[in-house]
Amino acid sequence: MSRTRVGVLISGRGSNLQTLLDAQATGQAPFEIALVLSNDPAAGGLDRALRAGVETAIVDHKPFGKNRAAFEDAMHAALTEHAIEFVALAGFMRVLTPGFVARWAGRMINIHPSLLPSFPGLHTHARALEAGVKLHGCTVHWVSDGVDEGAIIGQAAVPVKPGDTPDTLAARVLRAEHQLFPMCLALAVQGRSAQVRGFGPRDDAPLLLNGWLADAP
Ligand code: GRF
Repeated sequence: MSRTRVGVLISGRGSNLQTLLDAQATGQAPFEIALVLSNDPAAGGLDRALRAGVETAIVDHKPFGKNRAAFEDAMHAALTEHAIEFVALAGFMRVLTPGFVARWAGRMINIHPSLLPSFPGLHTHARALEAGVKLHGCTVHWVSDGVDEGAIIGQAAVPVKPGDTPDTLAARVLRAEHQLFPMCLALAVQGRSAQVRGFGPRDDAPLLLNGWLADAP
C-alpha cells in the first residue's frame, strides 16, 4: 500500500496526534506520519512523536512577531524538506493566512471540538453548555480561509448530560475526537467519497453523523 506522507501540526499535549500514531502502528492506515511540527517548543506532543520514532520540527512563532507570512514560510520549508504531501492540524493554535491555506488547498484538514457550524473558535464546551444544547461533539473539516468554516468531512456527536461542566463535557468530546480523527484522515488522504458509519450516541460510543467527502475541494 502506498502511504501518504502526513505532517501533523500541533501546539499542545497531542492526544489527537497520538491516535494518528496508534493508527499508523497498526500497519493498516493509508498514511504515514512523517513529521510532527510544533509552534511551541514545550508542546507535550513532541515527546509522543519521539517515542513513536517520528521526526519533529519546532517553528516557534514568537521570534516572527506579527510577520505571520515569514512564520508560515518557515513551516512550509520544514514540511517540504520532509516531502510532506498532506497536513493534519491537531490542536494547532495559530490562525493560518490565506497564503498558507492556498498552498495546501485540498490537502489540509483540521479537528475542531464542536459540531460545526455551531461554536467555531475558542471555549466551545462552555459555550455549548451556556446555549443549552443537548448534543455536542466534534468535526473534522477541510481547511479554508475562514476559521473553522471549511467543508465537513465527518462529525461525531455526544450527549450533554445534566451536571456537565466544561471539563466533563470536554473529556467526553475528546473521546469522540480520538475515534473520528484517524477515520477522517484515512478517508481524506484517499480522496474517497465515503460515508462514516453511525453508531451511538452513548458515553463511550459517539454518534457519527455525516461523513461524505463528495463536497471536498
Ligand atoms: C482538541 O480538542 C482539538 O479538537 C482542538 O484542540 C484540542 C487539542 O487536543 N483543536 P490534543 O492536543 O490533541 O490533546
